[in-house]
Amino acid sequence: MNKYNVLHPFSFMPNLQDKTEEDIKEIYTFLESGKGCWVKDDKGNEYFYATTAVPTVGLGNKRVVDAINKQMERLSFASTCGQTHPYVQKLAEKLVSVAGEQFSLCFYTTDGSGAIETAMKLARQHFMQKGLQGKSKFISFDGNYHGTTFASGSVTKMGIQETFGEGIKGCYTAPFPNMLRPPVEGTEEEITDYCLQRLKHLIAEISPDEVAAIIFEPIQGVNGIIPMSKRFLQQVASLAKENNILLIADEVTTGLGRTGYWTSSEYYGIKPDLLTISKGLTGGYFPMGATLISSEIESSLLEEGGIFLHGSTQCGHPVGCVAALELISIIEEENLLENAKEMGEYILSTFKNQLKDCKHIGEVRGEGLMISIEFVSDRLSNESIDFSLGERFSQELRRQGVLGNYFNGILLLYPPLNVSKSEATFLSDKVLQAINQIFGGMNENE
Ligand SMILES: Cc1ncc(COP(=O)(O)O)c(C=O)c1O
Repeated sequence: MNKYNVLHPFSFMPNLQDKTEEDIKEIYTFLESGKGCWVKDDKGNEYFYATTAVPTVGLGNKRVVDAINKQMERLSFASTCGQTHPYVQKLAEKLVSVAGEQFSLCFYTTDGSGAIETAMKLARQHFMQKGLQGKSKFISFDGNYHGTTFASGSVTKMGIQETFGEGIKGCYTAPFPNMLRPPVEGTEEEITDYCLQRLKHLIAEISPDEVAAIIFEPIQGVNGIIPMSKRFLQQVASLAKENNILLIADEVTTGLGRTGYWTSSEYYGIKPDLLTISKGLTGGYFPMGATLISSEIESSLLEEGGIFLHGSTQCGHPVGCVAALELISIIEEENLLENAKEMGEYILSTFKNQLKDCKHIGEVRGEGLMISIEFVSDRLSNESIDFSLGERFSQELRRQGVLGNYFNGILLLYPPLNVSKSEATFLSDKVLQAINQIFGGMNENE
């Protein structure tokens, strides 16, 4: 048997040592086909696919596939370096119209990390054009995930620096108001005030003249689907404005419908200066990301800037643009923002009702169709659950016919925006059955 030659992202590397493809099938689910919410593995088992926020209209959607095929025949590639094609403009026009009135420009990337890199560079360049070279530093929040390239990895606070050494200079961390695992004891209001005070002090300590941007996930995704409160985020936005600091909203996960809004910033009532999207932009039909740019930044760049020294050979790919345009039409025509709100609320309230007496449930959280269940060893102490249960739980979930994402004692679920009521019921029933099997009964003290 041949050696397996793939290094997977985020893999536990010793697991890949001396393995063949057959061995790997014992570790990873080996997916062979998919349609709508469903995927099939090489043994013909079918699963509800809820591991990632990428598929917003499910898999194999005929409209998107047909649009892509047509574009492949018409023009399978066009560079946007020194050339253009009709779909970059069509899509940019649509994106700035749905994302917020402050936006006027769109820069295309090939993934979410690239969109964050772009936003960080644009923030620096904006201040350089204005003669404020000192404003080059970034503040992000504890537990945030913004990607793994050098700049995006430097504002990601999940152990990347510990592996690869120092990231880019000038990246600082503020506490995140996680109410289940708060940075200080207190009521929700006290914890929020504490985090705001710490952010204020951090800005003062660094000096407002040196901070370019605050970068945030409105709802932390990878860290466990943990929303910021409206009060917290609105006050962060005010603090940024008072100190001439830009706001970068990382909506790579929340963007384009996932929470039942085109953007979470819309839900939170804030107007970021830069906004990144990726997963829901093309729903997995093509690798692509984008950074949306406010008209204020546009002015400083286009009026006073020189060459924009940033980009990648394949950004603004016509096939990706066509896929995104078709996806947005489907979301609009099939009313999928409403569906995301309704189905999200249905799944969330089912979990909340059914799990309210379960000793091992710390919190059930969600916004639209991003939903999480945090397990604890005992809900009175909120101590973390035994990590060895994770593998058993994931296997049980798979046996029940669901591919979810269990990470650090938290189950993350991202059903597509067009999930039907019966599919949502399947998902919640199976998750509850798997919890019952692995974590004991649904009743207190069982
Ligand atoms: C909020 C957020 N930002 C950025 C990224 C990076 O995106 P990508 O994996 O496409 O580079 C991710 C990926 O999970 C993310 O969740």
